[in-house]
Amino acid sequence: MSENADMKLKLKVWRQKNRQDKGGLETYEAEGISPDSSFLEMLDVLNEKLITEGKEPVAFDHDCREGICGMCSLYINGRAHGPDTAITTCQLHMRTFKDGDTVYIEPWRSAAMPVIKDLIVDRSSFERIQQAGAFVSVNTSGRTVDANALPVPKADADKAFEAATCIGCGACVATCKNSSAMLFVAAKVSQFALLPQGKVEAKDRVLNMVRQMDAEGFGNCTNTGACEVECPKEISLEYIARMNREYLSAAVSEEK
Ligand code: SF4
Ligand code: FES
Repeated sequence: MSENADMKLKLKVWRQKNRQDKGGLETYEAEGISPDSSFLEMLDVLNEKLITEGKEPVAFDHDCREGICGMCSLYINGRAHGPDTAITTCQLHMRTFKDGDTVYIEPWRSAAMPVIKDLIVDRSSFERIQQAGAFVSVNTSGRTVDANALPVPKADADKAFEAATCIGCGACVATCKNSSAMLFVAAKVSQFALLPQGKVEAKDRVLNMVRQMDAEGFGNCTNTGACEVECPKEISLEYIARMNREYLSAAVSEEK
């Protein structure tokens, strides 16, 4: 086979009609797949074939297809976003696989992110956590201090930026044996708390966001580190440690 010859794959795809349906794996053949195509383009080819045959296409989430929206949540061969590290599913290329491979494609599995249909999960729990505190209240009366007038140490700006690269994909939850959302929440809390503009509401933010996370039914963090390994943006476990310190100090001051 020449390097660019098209591939043929056997796909085991999770099909589930709706939230209530039990669901199960269906087997499909994907033919004429270019090794240079992305994983989502491979699914497009499969869906075109299914539509031509009068069958229902596979429902899967996607939007930007360039690693920034976090929608393409797929569990591929037992790993969140597939076998490569530091990428999303839309950035995964078919050359990662070999001609004739069998590929298992499943949705995220977490009680707090239930399957809506096939490979699409409901991630509104993440939205509710963000609404609980991932914002900065700004006085827009006209007397607002110009943001550039507030000096920010470079190290803090870098850390805040790193935390802000979290795209809310949910791979950290999907890969955690406890379905913990701590890496996501820690990133969202930290991106504000590390900057002067975010410090004003820092205590309420961390308390409200962690409480909302617990109310959504995410599990506890037991420091296995799986989330850090599968995070496409390589968010570090350090953010969980810093959020734990921030939460403890906010909870103690609340009790006083
Ligand atoms: S912390 Fe990483 S894995 Fe978790 S939601 Fe953010 S980008 Fe995705
Ligand atoms: S489709 Fe947006 S990150 Fe993959």
